[in-house]
Amino acid sequence: MQYVDANGAHIPQIGLGTMQLTGEAGTQAIRTALDLGYRHLDTAAFYGNEKENGAALRASGVRRDDVFITTKVRESEARPDAFARKVDECLANLQLPYVDLLLIHWPSKEVPIADTIGALCKAKKDGKARHIGVSNFTVALLDEAWKATSEPLVCNQIEAHPFINQDKVIDACKRHGMAVVAYVPIARGKVPGAEALERIGKAHGKSAAQVSLRYLVERGMVSIPRSSNPEHLKANLDVFDFKLSAAEMAELKKLNDTNMRVVSPPHAPQWDTP
Ligand SMILES: NC(=O)c1ccc[n+]([C@@H]2O[C@H](COP(=O)([O-])OP(=O)(O)OC[C@H]3O[C@@H](n4cnc5c(N)ncnc54)[C@H](OP(=O)(O)O)[C@@H]3O)[C@@H](O)[C@H]2O)c1
Repeated sequence: MQYVDANGAHIPQIGLGTMQLTGEAGTQAIRTALDLGYRHLDTAAFYGNEKENGAALRASGVRRDDVFITTKVRESEARPDAFARKVDECLANLQLPYVDLLLIHWPSKEVPIADTIGALCKAKKDGKARHIGVSNFTVALLDEAWKATSEPLVCNQIEAHPFINQDKVIDACKRHGMAVVAYVPIARGKVPGAEALERIGKAHGKSAAQVSLRYLVERGMVSIPRSSNPEHLKANLDVFDFKLSAAEMAELKKLNDTNMRVVSPPHAPQWDTP
């Protein structure tokens, strides 16, 4: 496993996205991932599966300190009192005293960013999160968050895969020393079958999904692909033994022009234009 270091955090570069991994089957998939060597789990209050993440971790026998666990509090809980209550609920569900990374899931349009960032800082100072960060923040929102924070923000979790141009927000993350954590890194199933990715994969004996993950690795991002298929789980970890050429990286970068955003709910901020 490779790691990305950012503002004091040491983050396994491939983690398991656990959205929709719920119930007994969800616990089993997370457990399988841990058995295969995953050491980074991404959950959220909204996913309703913090209990499954905690149960899989305990069943795996992997030491708590060896796993990097992220959870997220939704923007509907962005007010400091509601935020603090929700963090306690998340930890109770996980049955853990702290998470490695606590994020605000989406920027709130109603609550001032400074209030929510204050609540994130308090959770860290109270020992409930080793690190704090944000998700779905634009360049302007990142600058606002940094003005308000008393603690380092270690990441911005955003949509990233070859079919979207996120250069502006990625550059802003770099400027702030933050890691970019790529969600929907295989474009929610739209990567398999894509001609260029399949062709490049074939040249390396890899799948299109592995090429997408490798592209993100080579751009220095952390990725959190989700799968409940043991073969896919294994393949998604197996992206550190090949290298894309400069020409292949350039071809994949060109696909950014497709500008296909997979996740943009009504509460999304005004995204940065490419
Ligand atoms: N912060 C946010 O606002 C936000 C938003 C969305 C997602 N996320 C996080 O990002 C994670 C990943 O996003 P996602 O789950 O929506 O999408 P994704 O990881 O891009 O795609 C998941 C889909 O790809 C398939 N897949 C996975 N590995 C594959 C492989 N090697 N070959 C072929 N198909 C493969 C999976 O099916 P199988 O199960 O059959 O493998 C599943 O249908 C989420 O689970 C969540 O943790 C965060």
